[in-house]
Amino acid sequence: MINFTSKHAIDENVFCGDKSISHRALILAAISNGKCVLRNLSLCKDVLTTANCLRALGAQVEICGTTATVLPITKPNKAVRLNCENSGTTARLLAGLVAGLGVECTFLGDDSLSKRPMDRILQPLTQMGARFEKGEGYLFKNVPSKLHGESFVAQTKSAQVKSGVLLAGLFATGKTSYTEKIATRNHTEILLQRLGADVSCNGSKTTVAKSVVSAFQAEIPNDISSMAFPIALALLDGTSRVFRNVCVNPRRTGFLRVLQNSGANVFLKNQREVFGETVADVCVEKSVLKPLNASETDVCDAIDEIPVLAVLALATKGKHVFCEVGELQHKECNRIEAIIHMANVCGQRAAFDGKNLVVESNGVLSEKPHFSTFCDHRIAMSQAVLAMGACNGGSLDGENWEVSFPQFLQSVGATPQRFGLVGSDVSCSLSPVLMQCLAKNANVCCSYNLAQLPAEVCDKTLAETLQQFDGANVTMPFKTRVAQIFGCSAAVNTVGKNVQPQSTDGYGIVQALNNHGVTWKNAPLWVVGAGGAAESCVAELKKYRCKIQIVNRTQAHADALTQKYRLEKCVQNPVGVLSFVPPCDFEQQLQLPQSVRFVFSATYKQRCALQQKAEERNVTFIGGLEMLYFQGAKSFSLWTRTPIQNDYNGFLQQLASVVCPKNNDKTPKPQ
Ligand code: S3P
Repeated sequence: MINFTSKHAIDENVFCGDKSISHRALILAAISNGKCVLRNLSLCKDVLTTANCLRALGAQVEICGTTATVLPITKPNKAVRLNCENSGTTARLLAGLVAGLGVECTFLGDDSLSKRPMDRILQPLTQMGARFEKGEGYLFKNVPSKLHGESFVAQTKSAQVKSGVLLAGLFATGKTSYTEKIATRNHTEILLQRLGADVSCNGSKTTVAKSVVSAFQAEIPNDISSMAFPIALALLDGTSRVFRNVCVNPRRTGFLRVLQNSGANVFLKNQREVFGETVADVCVEKSVLKPLNASETDVCDAIDEIPVLAVLALATKGKHVFCEVGELQHKECNRIEAIIHMANVCGQRAAFDGKNLVVESNGVLSEKPHFSTFCDHRIAMSQAVLAMGACNGGSLDGENWEVSFPQFLQSVGATPQRFGLVGSDVSCSLSPVLMQCLAKNANVCCSYNLAQLPAEVCDKTLAETLQQFDGANVTMPFKTRVAQIFGCSAAVNTVGKNVQPQSTDGYGIVQALNNHGVTWKNAPLWVVGAGGAAESCVAELKKYRCKIQIVNRTQAHADALTQKYRLEKCVQNPVGVLSFVPPCDFEQQLQLPQSVRFVFSATYKQRCALQQKAEERNVTFIGGLEMLYFQGAKSFSLWTRTPIQNDYNGFLQQLASVVCPKNNDKTPKPQ
């Protein structure tokens, strides 16, 4: 999770090479006739994925800073596995390339890519003579075959499909032509023309034939699809900014056109041509927006910017219309559903009728909303802009902008503190929701992420993982190991920059007990368990002169703790039993002494046997959620130097809204 406040400072000097051009330049360099040098390459995950795939095929791709030096494939490697990860562009463009090269290749992808349509590219390539197989566990396999030219009329508005076909056409016999009703981005055609390929562009029809691609050096302009986020934020802020050296190819500037048509003061300066592409500085000035209207062509020319345009629509009172947006259903997530979710969470409306998307806003957005990012980078960045620019802050369940724009946070000038949880099974932790709640109340910009390590990890890796965070919680089974690493005498659950390593579990338990008004100071108690949390609790309760007996399945562990803290060997008539073990047979078999007046269990995910026993006997039961809340509140306060929060009920409410969202929110579950 990441929490934003309204505080930010846009940095207009963040450069990021255009992602689409970077993919294409790398691919064409890999099949050129010599050494190529590409400057200002995008270093986003998608482009690095393409670079890795090209390496697997036999190209040498060296990336130093933002400069890539590419030595082409001489003899393609055989039986290659190409992991396209999250990148549709990699999969579809390389499908064409690999079919052309005629090598056996298996294409793989992540969950999101595995759900995206691939037939749109496999079908035309098959018509050219390519052979593909489909099966379990991969996207598709290319079986070597010879290609021949074909004439296509676009069936989908997709530059990826067009580019895949044109790349295959470079290796096919005869001519391959591709005609579009609605033009999509034409970076492949522009590069092919520059690089001496046999290519002609005649209106909506592009024709290629077998060609040699000349080696080249190119400076890649900045990416409007990334710049769109700080531009949108500048508009929300009402500040003037200049974003330099941006690719303003008309097939990419639907975003600017839609804004200009709705009254935005956005204009281009220093327009020039660089390697066949139009490049300019984009100037943004304080603007009052009218409702946004995007035609089918605008949408096609702003296909990746519709989510961020929807953000500006939500922040602007009125009815906004985006025409023919169906393709958005096939992006990294179903972006139409994601936009509808974004609108609902802000208390506004968006609806899709199968063709057009209508966003209606009264201009008064909910404060500090929490968004689901649907694991989609552009949805996440749009939501972050909306939170910072129009909702006085807000939080997201993830942050994966490295897929397309690793410098996103820098560009919008948000500087989250990095917190997290380190343990061996952290997948079900409620700490991210807890920290989201604490961060929202304290108005702190921070993230809280989960780091799962194998139980047998070495100390070095454990320490390095902790150091990646400005502040970290430690959970099972590392509390005692981390104490040893930091030279502490007792288990540690909280470390951080300028924070003494310590456990906040003791504080958590004391607060939980106090909240229930049970008698525990000076009292005789049984503590079930002898691990890190039990130890922290013992250390704390000892300060209040409790008489404690450790009850544990492994007597040696109980003895060790008893000795270390000079506990009682036997406590008769305890008034409380405090359990720190997960639900297990041992706990099930434990008899509650008649004297017991309260039972505490650190478990909060499952109902434990001791709860049942406490309820049967009508004694107070205190669940682990309260301890979780208070120990987390203390860790958060130590890291952020803010007062310890004491709003357990607020947390419960937040938890309820996350675990079972309101029925009226038709939010689809993220994939
Ligand atoms: C891209 C084309 C578009 C775009 C994607 C990049 C490209 O996809 O959404 O981010 O580089 O060719 P489609 O071709 O599927 O529309």
